[in-house]
This record gives sequence, structure tokens and C-alpha cells, in this order.
Amino acid sequence: MNDFTFYSPTYFVFGKNKESETGKYVKRFGGTKVLLHFGGGSVVKSGLLDSVKKSLEAESITYLELGGVKPNPRSGLVYKGIDLCRSEKIDFVLAVGGGSTIDSAKAIAAGAVYEGDFWDFYQGLPITKALPVGTILTIAAAGSEGSPDSVITNEEGMYKRGASGEAIRPAFSILNPELTMTLPPFQTACGATDIMAHVFERYFTNTKEVEVTDRFCEAVLLTMIKEVPIVVANPLDYEARANIMWAGMVAHNNLCGVGRDQDWASHDIEHELSAVYDCAHGAGLAVVFPAWMKYVYQHDVMRFAKIACRVWGCEMDYDYPENTALEGISRLRSFLKSIGMPLNFEELGALEKDIDKMAETACYGNGRTGEIGGFVKLKKEDVINIYKLML
Ligand code: NZQ
Ligand code: ZN
Repeated sequence: MNDFTFYSPTYFVFGKNKESETGKYVKRFGGTKVLLHFGGGSVVKSGLLDSVKKSLEAESITYLELGGVKPNPRSGLVYKGIDLCRSEKIDFVLAVGGGSTIDSAKAIAAGAVYEGDFWDFYQGLPITKALPVGTILTIAAAGSEGSPDSVITNEEGMYKRGASGEAIRPAFSILNPELTMTLPPFQTACGATDIMAHVFERYFTNTKEVEVTDRFCEAVLLTMIKEVPIVVANPLDYEARANIMWAGMVAHNNLCGVGRDQDWASHDIEHELSAVYDCAHGAGLAVVFPAWMKYVYQHDVMRFAKIACRVWGCEMDYDYPENTALEGISRLRSFLKSIGMPLNFEELGALEKDIDKMAETACYGNGRTGEIGGFVKLKKEDVINIYKLML
């Protein structure tokens, strides 16, 4: 196991109707004037935004609203939010929605107290200072409610890139599984795929002797395999929603990833797809991950065979562990198909003619130096080959 530090100080409030306590938590974490940030309208329609406003008013907290965050959030609205925070002397950013809204809120919170262009953070500058951020989560997916990360698409060049820093880990996150019940099955499945992907990015490692985090990873994956079909069939199943919601947090606050090298090439490869085609991140990952696995499994056949047995219930073929590894990948594909995810370029709406450009941007765009991935280092030619496996 590698050395590590782990500090994950988000205050989680989990359960039914907990959004009615939002005002109390904003106050507790120092907010007096709030930027209330949300997406394209689901929280207006569900009445969640009104409950949150009432809760703020009950604590005499003033707020300004900024809605309109799009999935795959854009830089334009971030700049607008930063200007608002500065001109209105906002001291707390509250995100009500999914990963896109939370990531946009984090970018605004960091940009508001930084003199330069907030995009510097998305070119590698660590975020060391930000306004406090709180979240009320409405979709189990990105894990942004517990992560120190934010992913934004720069409209100049359509670069989709991530930034990181402990300063943007949310001060508090309210997780009420009931709020996810209005999600259409497709969005639920996209979120689930993203959660599983966050585990895969950590599971495939070159670090030896990481049994405890391997087992955490496997527990999250087994939970998803059990619970996701339940909510796809019955969106109102509270217990399954609750398990998935917490799995989404655990998958990405790095509990499963400390002490080990991680990969993240599949996320880089997917981010090109969601930047170019504006597809849901989880849907993109469903297409990318099996292709990436097929391309790299020979790098460590036994690790792929291990996940196949422990997670996908395969029998180990000791003579030909390669067969076990491939069977595991095939079972992942079948699972993704069973929950309604796309499995190839056509189903995703992606085009072969864009492969070269996407591979170029993934490896060289926005200051990258030609290689992505930690488990297996990939060059542009490899990324092209992986995209081709998705055709
Ligand atoms: O905009 P509204 O109207 O709210 O609709 C959203 C949106 O259309 C809808 N939705 C959310 N909750 C709902 C709901 N509809 C009905 N009922 C509800 N309860 O779902 C759609 C997707 O929302 P979005 O916030 O985009 O989803 P998600 O949480 O999957 O976030 C995706 C973004 O997070 C990034 C992705 O790249 C993508 O941009 N990621 C962020 C990470 C992080 N910050 O740590 C890590 C991830 O790997 C990921 O890259
Ligand atoms: Zn993701």
C-alpha cells in the first residue's frame, strides 16, 4: 500500500425530508448571504427549491438565485456566478441538484475569491481557497457531494476538464434518497454507471497488497449490481435508492482509492464524448469502460480475473485466467445493457469521423503532454484504438 493522507470533512445529513434543515446547516458553516444555484428546472418542478428557500428564510438567510446549469456544465454560467458573488458580497454557495450543478457551484466558489481567471484551476492549478459550498443532492452519480473535484466545459474550445482542491470539498451535503425518485430510469442508470466507473478507476491499479480497498471497491460494486435493477424497475423503492445514494458518495470521496495508484484514462476518454456530443457522462462511460478493459486487460490478467470472480460471480479458469477475465468484461456489458445503457458509438450518437480529433484532445488538449492513464499509460494511438473498439 502507498502512503497517503485522507481528510474528508464534509458533514453528511442523510434521510427523508432533511432538506428542510438546509438553513440550519448554512448558518452552522458560516453562510449569511447565499448564491442558490440549480439546473434546468427539475428542482423547481419537484418543489425542492421552494422547500430550500423556506428553510433559508426561517433562519433569516438572504439568497440570490442562479439557475440554468446544463448537464456537462459550461464556463459561461460560472463567470456569471463569479460576478454575482463579487458584486453581491455572497459568502456561501448552495447547490441544489446533481453533479453538474454542484461542479458549477464549486467553480464559482473558487473563482469568486481568486483574482485570475477561474479556468487556471482547470489547467492544473490546485484550488486552495474558495467560498464554502453546501449541496442538496438530487441524483446519485458523480459523487461531487463528497469529492474535492469539479468538472467544467470551457465553451472556448469545448474542453471538458477537472479541477481539484480540498477547499471545494462541500462543507455539508444533504442526501435525501426520496429526492432521487423523480429521476427517469435512463438518468438513474447513467448515474449508476458513473458510480461503478469511479470504482473501476480505482480498482485497476499497479499497487500491490491493497486488500482492504479492493474489498471496499467490491462491496460498492456488488451493492450496485443488486440495487440498480430494483430502482430501474421500481423508481420509488426507498431502500434501494438509499443504498445507491450512499454508494455514490463512498465510490468517489476516495475511501476506496487511498493508498493505491489509480487510472482515470476512461474518464478522460469519456469527457471527450460528453464534450463533443453533450451525452450524459454515465452513458459515455458505459460505452468506454468495456472497450478500455478489452484493450488493457492483458496488462494484469489476474486483476481482471479477480474482479470477474469476486464481483461478477465467474468461476476461475486456472489454466486460462484470460478466459475468466474476458468473461467478467462480458458480464459487465450484459449488466449495462440490462439497465438500458448504450454499448457502442451508434447507440450513443457518436461518430467515427471524430475519433482522431477526440484522441488528440484527450492526449494533448488544454496543456496535456501526450499520455493519459495510471494503470496503463495510453498514447494517442492507443486512445484511437480504444475508440475504434466502441464502433
Ligand atoms: O438540470 P435539471 O433540470 O436539474 O435536470 C437534471 C439533468 O438533466 C436531471 N436531474 C437531476 N436530478 C433529478 C433530475 N431529474 C429529475 N429528478 C431528479 N431528482 O438529470 C440530468 C443530469 O444531471 P447532472 O447534474 O448532469 O448529473 P450528474 O450528477 O451525473 O453530473 C454529471 C456531471 O458531473 C461530472 C460529469 O462529467 C458531468 O459533467 N463529474 C463530476 C465529478 C466530480 N465533481 O467529482 C466526477 C465525475 O466523474 C464526473 O466527471
Ligand atoms: Zn464519473
